[in-house]
Amino acid sequence: MLEKIKSLREKAIQELEASADSNSLEEWKRTYLGKKGFVTQLLRQIGSLPPEERPKAGEAANLLRDELTQLYEEKASAIKEAERLQAAKAQAIDVTLPGRRPQIGALHPVTQTLREIIEIFSRMGFGVYEGPEVEWDEYNFGLLNIPPEHPARDMWDTLYIAPPYGKDGNMLLRTHTSPDQIRVMELTKPPIRVVVPGRCYRHEATDASHEWMFYQVEGLAVDKGITMAHLKGVLTTFVREMFGKERKVRFRCDYFPFVEPGADMAMDCIVCGGKGCRVCKFTGWLEILGAGMVHPQVLRNVGIDPNIYTGFAFGMGVERIAMLKHKIDDIRYFYANDLRFLKQFRA
Ligand code: DAH
Repeated sequence: MLEKIKSLREKAIQELEASADSNSLEEWKRTYLGKKGFVTQLLRQIGSLPPEERPKAGEAANLLRDELTQLYEEKASAIKEAERLQAAKAQAIDVTLPGRRPQIGALHPVTQTLREIIEIFSRMGFGVYEGPEVEWDEYNFGLLNIPPEHPARDMWDTLYIAPPYGKDGNMLLRTHTSPDQIRVMELTKPPIRVVVPGRCYRHEATDASHEWMFYQVEGLAVDKGITMAHLKGVLTTFVREMFGKERKVRFRCDYFPFVEPGADMAMDCIVCGGKGCRVCKFTGWLEILGAGMVHPQVLRNVGIDPNIYTGFAFGMGVERIAMLKHKIDDIRYFYANDLRFLKQFRA
Protein backbone atom coordinates (compact mmCIF):
# COMPACT_ATOMS: atom_id res chain seq x y z
CA MET A 1 0.00 0.00 0.00
CA LEU A 2 2.77 2.43 0.87
CA GLU A 3 4.36 1.74 -2.52
CA LYS A 4 1.07 2.53 -4.20
CA ILE A 5 0.81 5.83 -2.31
CA LYS A 6 4.36 6.75 -3.26
CA SER A 7 3.87 6.15 -6.94
CA LEU A 8 0.49 7.95 -6.89
CA ARG A 9 2.23 10.91 -5.29
CA GLU A 10 4.93 11.02 -7.97
CA LYS A 11 2.42 10.76 -10.79
CA ALA A 12 0.19 13.42 -9.24
CA ILE A 13 3.04 15.90 -8.74
CA GLN A 14 4.33 15.35 -12.25
CA GLU A 15 0.93 16.00 -13.76
CA LEU A 16 0.35 19.01 -11.57
CA GLU A 17 3.58 20.55 -12.79
CA ALA A 18 2.54 19.92 -16.37
CA SER A 19 -0.81 21.69 -16.07
CA ALA A 20 -0.32 25.20 -17.39
CA ASP A 21 -3.77 26.82 -17.25
CA SER A 22 -6.78 26.86 -15.01
CA ASN A 23 -8.70 24.35 -17.17
CA SER A 24 -6.09 21.63 -16.93
CA LEU A 25 -5.55 22.43 -13.26
CA GLU A 26 -9.23 21.89 -12.48
CA GLU A 27 -9.12 18.68 -14.47
CA TRP A 28 -6.15 17.56 -12.33
CA LYS A 29 -8.05 18.43 -9.14
CA ARG A 30 -10.99 16.28 -10.22
CA THR A 31 -8.68 13.39 -11.11
CA TYR A 32 -6.86 13.32 -7.76
CA LEU A 33 -8.84 15.17 -5.11
CA GLY A 34 -12.38 14.96 -6.47
CA LYS A 35 -15.14 12.75 -5.03
CA LYS A 36 -14.11 9.91 -7.28
CA GLY A 37 -10.47 10.98 -7.45
CA PHE A 38 -7.54 8.66 -6.81
CA VAL A 39 -6.69 10.09 -3.40
CA THR A 40 -10.29 9.92 -2.24
CA GLN A 41 -10.56 6.33 -3.38
CA LEU A 42 -7.29 5.58 -1.63
CA LEU A 43 -8.60 6.95 1.65
CA ARG A 44 -11.68 4.81 1.32
CA GLN A 45 -9.61 1.68 0.88
CA ILE A 46 -7.76 2.20 4.20
CA GLY A 47 -10.64 0.72 6.17
CA SER A 48 -10.40 -2.57 4.31
CA LEU A 49 -6.71 -3.05 5.04
CA PRO A 50 -5.47 -5.47 7.67
CA PRO A 51 -5.49 -3.68 11.05
CA GLU A 52 -1.67 -3.61 11.40
CA GLU A 53 -1.25 -1.76 8.08
CA ARG A 54 -3.98 0.77 8.68
CA PRO A 55 -2.21 3.38 10.89
CA LYS A 56 0.77 3.84 8.56
CA ALA A 57 -1.23 3.66 5.40
CA GLY A 58 -3.84 6.04 6.84
CA GLU A 59 -1.22 8.56 7.90
CA ALA A 60 0.55 8.39 4.54
CA ALA A 61 -2.73 8.78 2.62
CA ASN A 62 -3.79 11.76 4.76
CA LEU A 63 -0.39 13.36 4.32
CA LEU A 64 -0.67 12.88 0.58
CA ARG A 65 -4.10 14.45 0.51
CA ASP A 66 -2.89 17.48 2.54
CA GLU A 67 0.24 17.86 0.47
CA LEU A 68 -1.59 17.67 -2.86
CA THR A 69 -4.26 20.08 -1.63
CA GLN A 70 -1.60 22.59 -0.65
CA LEU A 71 0.30 22.14 -3.92
CA TYR A 72 -2.96 22.61 -5.78
CA GLU A 73 -3.70 25.87 -4.01
CA GLU A 74 -0.22 27.24 -4.67
CA LYS A 75 -0.44 26.32 -8.32
CA ALA A 76 -3.96 27.74 -8.62
CA SER A 77 -2.93 31.14 -7.33
CA ALA A 78 0.17 31.16 -9.54
CA ILE A 79 -1.95 30.42 -12.62
CA LYS A 80 -4.52 33.03 -11.63
CA GLU A 81 -1.83 35.69 -11.32
CA ALA A 82 -0.27 34.68 -14.65
CA GLU A 83 -3.64 34.86 -16.38
CA ARG A 84 -4.38 38.25 -14.85
CA LEU A 85 -1.06 39.62 -16.10
CA GLN A 86 -1.72 38.26 -19.55
CA ALA A 87 -5.14 39.91 -19.73
CA ALA A 88 -3.68 43.22 -18.57
CA LYS A 89 -0.99 42.95 -21.19
CA ALA A 90 -3.56 42.39 -23.92
CA GLN A 91 -5.31 45.65 -23.00
CA ALA A 92 -2.18 47.63 -22.31
CA ILE A 93 -1.52 50.97 -24.03
CA ASP A 94 1.71 51.36 -25.89
CA VAL A 95 2.89 54.63 -24.41
CA THR A 96 5.60 54.98 -27.04
CA LEU A 97 3.04 55.41 -29.87
CA PRO A 98 2.57 59.03 -30.99
CA GLY A 99 -0.71 60.51 -29.64
CA ARG A 100 -3.61 61.92 -31.63
CA ARG A 101 -3.17 65.61 -32.11
CA PRO A 102 -6.09 67.64 -30.70
CA GLN A 103 -7.79 69.89 -33.26
CA ILE A 104 -6.98 73.44 -32.35
CA GLY A 105 -9.69 75.97 -33.11
CA ALA A 106 -9.36 79.63 -33.96
CA LEU A 107 -11.50 82.74 -33.90
CA HIS A 108 -13.80 83.22 -36.88
CA PRO A 109 -12.45 85.79 -39.36
CA VAL A 110 -15.45 88.05 -38.70
CA THR A 111 -14.75 87.91 -34.94
CA GLN A 112 -11.11 88.73 -35.56
CA THR A 113 -12.06 91.73 -37.70
CA LEU A 114 -14.70 92.85 -35.19
CA ARG A 115 -12.15 92.81 -32.38
CA GLU A 116 -9.66 94.74 -34.47
CA ILE A 117 -12.27 97.43 -35.27
CA ILE A 118 -13.26 97.74 -31.61
CA GLU A 119 -9.62 97.97 -30.54
CA ILE A 120 -8.96 100.86 -32.91
CA PHE A 121 -11.98 102.77 -31.61
CA SER A 122 -11.17 102.04 -27.99
CA ARG A 123 -7.76 103.62 -28.51
CA MET A 124 -9.69 106.75 -29.55
CA GLY A 125 -11.75 106.68 -26.36
CA PHE A 126 -14.88 104.84 -27.51
CA GLY A 127 -16.65 102.43 -25.15
CA VAL A 128 -18.63 99.38 -26.27
CA TYR A 129 -22.37 98.78 -25.96
CA GLU A 130 -24.42 95.82 -27.17
CA GLY A 131 -28.16 95.96 -27.87
CA PRO A 132 -30.84 93.38 -28.66
CA GLU A 133 -31.09 91.64 -32.03
CA VAL A 134 -34.86 91.42 -31.62
CA GLU A 135 -35.92 95.05 -31.67
CA TRP A 136 -39.01 97.25 -31.59
CA ASP A 137 -40.04 98.80 -34.89
CA GLU A 138 -40.00 102.10 -33.02
CA TYR A 139 -36.27 101.82 -32.26
CA ASN A 140 -35.23 100.32 -35.58
CA PHE A 141 -37.16 102.96 -37.54
CA GLY A 142 -39.45 105.46 -35.81
CA LEU A 143 -37.08 107.07 -33.34
CA LEU A 144 -34.43 107.16 -36.08
CA ASN A 145 -36.64 109.51 -38.06
CA ILE A 146 -38.02 106.81 -40.37
CA PRO A 147 -41.83 106.96 -39.95
CA PRO A 148 -43.99 103.98 -41.11
CA GLU A 149 -44.73 105.31 -44.58
CA HIS A 150 -41.19 106.48 -45.27
CA PRO A 151 -39.80 105.07 -48.55
CA ALA A 152 -36.40 104.61 -46.88
CA ARG A 153 -37.88 101.57 -45.16
CA ASP A 154 -37.55 99.75 -48.47
CA MET A 155 -33.78 99.76 -47.95
CA TRP A 156 -34.22 97.80 -44.75
CA ASP A 157 -36.83 95.13 -45.34
CA THR A 158 -36.63 92.62 -42.52
CA LEU A 159 -38.03 89.59 -40.74
CA TYR A 160 -40.89 90.38 -38.37
CA ILE A 161 -41.68 88.65 -35.10
CA ALA A 162 -45.06 86.93 -35.10
CA PRO A 163 -47.68 87.07 -32.30
CA PRO A 164 -47.88 86.58 -29.37
CA TYR A 165 -44.62 88.56 -28.98
CA GLY A 166 -44.92 90.96 -31.85
CA LYS A 167 -48.14 92.29 -33.34
CA ASP A 168 -48.89 94.51 -36.33
CA GLY A 169 -45.23 94.37 -37.25
CA ASN A 170 -44.09 96.19 -34.12
CA MET A 171 -41.28 93.74 -33.36
CA LEU A 172 -38.59 92.64 -35.77
CA LEU A 173 -35.04 91.45 -36.28
CA ARG A 174 -33.03 94.66 -36.37
CA THR A 175 -31.83 95.65 -39.83
CA HIS A 176 -28.93 97.72 -38.55
CA THR A 177 -27.21 98.62 -35.29
CA SER A 178 -28.47 102.22 -35.51
CA PRO A 179 -31.33 101.58 -33.00
CA ASP A 180 -28.63 101.28 -30.37
CA GLN A 181 -27.82 104.96 -30.88
CA ILE A 182 -31.26 105.53 -29.36
CA ARG A 183 -30.71 102.98 -26.59
CA VAL A 184 -27.35 104.48 -25.61
CA MET A 185 -28.74 108.02 -25.56
CA GLU A 186 -31.65 106.89 -23.42
CA LEU A 187 -29.27 105.22 -20.98
CA THR A 188 -26.60 107.90 -20.64
CA LYS A 189 -26.17 111.61 -20.97
CA PRO A 190 -23.55 113.32 -23.19
CA PRO A 191 -20.60 113.24 -23.52
CA ILE A 192 -21.09 109.95 -25.37
CA ARG A 193 -18.48 108.03 -27.33
CA VAL A 194 -19.53 104.48 -28.10
CA VAL A 195 -19.29 101.72 -30.69
CA VAL A 196 -21.96 99.02 -30.97
CA PRO A 197 -21.06 95.69 -32.58
CA GLY A 198 -23.75 93.16 -33.42
CA ARG A 199 -25.73 90.98 -35.77
CA CYS A 200 -28.26 92.44 -38.17
CA TYR A 201 -30.85 90.80 -40.40
CA ARG A 202 -32.48 91.64 -43.69
CA HIS A 203 -35.06 90.04 -45.91
CA GLU A 204 -32.58 89.54 -48.69
CA ALA A 205 -31.79 87.18 -51.55
CA THR A 206 -28.20 86.18 -50.91
CA ASP A 207 -25.49 86.83 -53.47
CA ALA A 208 -21.74 87.52 -53.40
CA SER A 209 -22.22 90.73 -51.43
CA HIS A 210 -25.48 90.17 -49.52
CA GLU A 211 -26.34 87.88 -46.65
CA TRP A 212 -29.59 87.82 -44.69
CA MET A 213 -27.52 87.90 -41.48
CA PHE A 214 -24.38 89.98 -41.07
CA TYR A 215 -22.50 92.10 -38.57
CA GLN A 216 -22.32 95.85 -38.22
CA VAL A 217 -20.43 98.21 -35.99
CA GLU A 218 -22.27 101.41 -35.18
CA GLY A 219 -20.49 104.46 -33.81
CA LEU A 220 -21.86 107.46 -31.93
CA ALA A 221 -20.27 110.56 -30.44
CA VAL A 222 -22.44 113.25 -28.82
CA ASP A 223 -21.05 116.26 -27.01
CA LYS A 224 -20.98 120.03 -27.01
CA GLY A 225 -19.28 121.34 -30.13
CA ILE A 226 -18.95 118.12 -32.14
CA THR A 227 -18.54 118.93 -35.83
CA MET A 228 -18.07 117.21 -39.15
CA ALA A 229 -14.33 117.71 -38.66
CA HIS A 230 -14.43 115.29 -35.72
CA LEU A 231 -16.31 112.78 -37.84
CA LYS A 232 -13.74 113.01 -40.62
CA GLY A 233 -10.80 112.87 -38.24
CA VAL A 234 -12.02 109.81 -36.35
CA LEU A 235 -13.01 107.87 -39.46
CA THR A 236 -9.84 108.73 -41.40
CA THR A 237 -7.80 107.53 -38.43
CA PHE A 238 -9.83 104.33 -38.36
CA VAL A 239 -9.27 103.60 -42.05
CA ARG A 240 -5.52 104.23 -41.81
CA GLU A 241 -5.16 102.04 -38.71
CA MET A 242 -7.14 99.28 -40.34
CA PHE A 243 -5.85 99.41 -43.92
CA GLY A 244 -2.52 101.25 -43.79
CA LYS A 245 -1.17 104.74 -43.18
CA GLU A 246 -1.02 105.56 -46.91
CA ARG A 247 -4.80 105.22 -47.46
CA LYS A 248 -6.62 108.14 -49.08
CA VAL A 249 -10.23 108.76 -48.08
CA ARG A 250 -13.19 110.35 -49.80
CA PHE A 251 -16.41 111.68 -48.28
CA ARG A 252 -19.46 112.24 -50.45
CA CYS A 253 -22.99 113.29 -49.64
CA ASP A 254 -25.40 110.46 -49.02
CA TYR A 255 -28.84 110.15 -47.53
CA PHE A 256 -29.79 108.43 -44.29
CA PRO A 257 -32.90 109.69 -42.47
CA PHE A 258 -31.18 109.79 -39.06
CA VAL A 259 -28.30 112.08 -40.05
CA GLU A 260 -28.04 115.56 -41.56
CA PRO A 261 -25.82 115.95 -43.45
CA GLY A 262 -25.23 112.31 -44.31
CA ALA A 263 -22.10 110.96 -45.95
CA ASP A 264 -20.65 107.96 -47.61
CA MET A 265 -17.00 107.28 -46.91
CA ALA A 266 -14.67 105.51 -49.32
CA MET A 267 -10.96 104.78 -49.44
CA ASP A 268 -8.67 104.36 -52.43
CA CYS A 269 -8.75 100.77 -53.70
CA ILE A 270 -6.31 98.58 -51.81
CA VAL A 271 -5.98 96.25 -54.78
CA CYS A 272 -5.09 98.69 -57.56
CA GLY A 273 -4.13 101.72 -55.50
CA GLY A 274 -6.81 103.80 -57.22
CA LYS A 275 -6.00 103.03 -60.85
CA GLY A 276 -9.18 100.99 -61.34
CA CYS A 277 -9.72 97.24 -61.22
CA ARG A 278 -12.48 94.65 -60.85
CA VAL A 279 -12.56 94.95 -57.06
CA CYS A 280 -13.32 98.70 -57.15
CA LYS A 281 -15.45 98.24 -60.28
CA PHE A 282 -12.94 100.48 -62.12
CA THR A 283 -13.75 103.50 -59.98
CA GLY A 284 -10.54 103.48 -57.91
CA TRP A 285 -12.64 103.78 -54.70
CA LEU A 286 -14.07 101.33 -52.20
CA GLU A 287 -17.11 102.41 -50.17
CA ILE A 288 -16.74 101.30 -46.60
CA LEU A 289 -19.29 103.01 -44.40
CA GLY A 290 -22.18 105.41 -43.98
CA ALA A 291 -21.95 108.34 -41.58
CA GLY A 292 -23.27 111.78 -40.76
CA MET A 293 -24.14 114.36 -38.15
CA VAL A 294 -26.89 113.07 -35.84
CA HIS A 295 -30.20 114.53 -37.04
CA PRO A 296 -31.59 117.19 -34.63
CA GLN A 297 -34.91 115.31 -34.60
CA VAL A 298 -33.16 112.12 -33.41
CA LEU A 299 -31.58 114.10 -30.54
CA ARG A 300 -34.96 115.58 -29.65
CA ASN A 301 -36.52 112.08 -29.73
CA VAL A 302 -34.34 111.10 -26.79
CA GLY A 303 -34.63 114.41 -24.95
CA ILE A 304 -31.25 115.87 -25.89
CA ASP A 305 -31.35 119.58 -26.85
CA PRO A 306 -29.83 119.94 -30.36
CA ASN A 307 -29.12 123.61 -29.64
CA ILE A 308 -26.64 122.52 -26.93
CA TYR A 309 -25.38 119.17 -28.20
CA THR A 310 -24.35 117.85 -31.58
CA GLY A 311 -23.03 114.48 -32.59
CA PHE A 312 -21.80 112.28 -35.37
CA ALA A 313 -22.69 108.68 -36.14
CA PHE A 314 -21.45 106.01 -38.49
CA GLY A 315 -22.22 102.42 -39.39
CA MET A 316 -20.14 99.83 -41.20
CA GLY A 317 -20.54 96.21 -42.29
CA VAL A 318 -17.96 94.01 -40.61
CA GLU A 319 -17.93 91.34 -43.33
CA ARG A 320 -17.23 94.01 -45.91
CA ILE A 321 -14.21 95.24 -43.92
CA ALA A 322 -12.97 91.64 -43.53
CA MET A 323 -13.50 90.99 -47.24
CA LEU A 324 -11.45 94.03 -48.21
CA LYS A 325 -8.76 93.24 -45.66
CA HIS A 326 -8.35 89.62 -46.81
CA LYS A 327 -9.43 90.08 -50.46
CA ILE A 328 -12.39 87.69 -50.13
CA ASP A 329 -14.76 87.97 -53.07
CA ASP A 330 -17.92 86.33 -51.71
CA ILE A 331 -19.62 87.10 -48.40
CA ARG A 332 -21.26 83.65 -48.33
CA TYR A 333 -17.95 81.97 -47.47
CA PHE A 334 -18.19 83.37 -43.93
CA TYR A 335 -21.25 81.34 -42.97
CA ALA A 336 -20.83 78.23 -45.13
CA ASN A 337 -18.88 76.45 -42.35
CA ASP A 338 -16.25 75.19 -44.78
CA LEU A 339 -13.05 74.48 -42.88
CA ARG A 340 -10.97 74.91 -46.04
CA PHE A 341 -11.99 78.57 -45.91
CA LEU A 342 -11.96 79.06 -42.14
CA LYS A 343 -8.54 77.44 -41.61
CA GLN A 344 -6.92 80.21 -43.63
CA PHE A 345 -7.62 82.64 -40.81
CA ARG A 346 -5.82 80.98 -37.94
CA ALA A 347 -4.44 83.94 -36.09
N1 DAH B 1 -27.59 102.07 -40.52
C1 DAH B 1 -27.10 102.28 -41.85
C2 DAH B 1 -27.32 101.03 -42.66
O1 DAH B 1 -27.50 100.01 -42.11
C3 DAH B 1 -25.64 102.66 -41.82
C4 DAH B 1 -25.42 104.03 -41.25
C5 DAH B 1 -25.41 105.12 -42.07
C6 DAH B 1 -25.25 104.19 -39.92
C7 DAH B 1 -25.18 106.40 -41.57
C8 DAH B 1 -25.04 105.47 -39.37
C9 DAH B 1 -25.01 106.54 -40.22
O2 DAH B 1 -24.86 105.67 -38.07
O3 DAH B 1 -24.79 107.79 -39.70
O4 DAH B 1 -27.28 101.09 -43.87
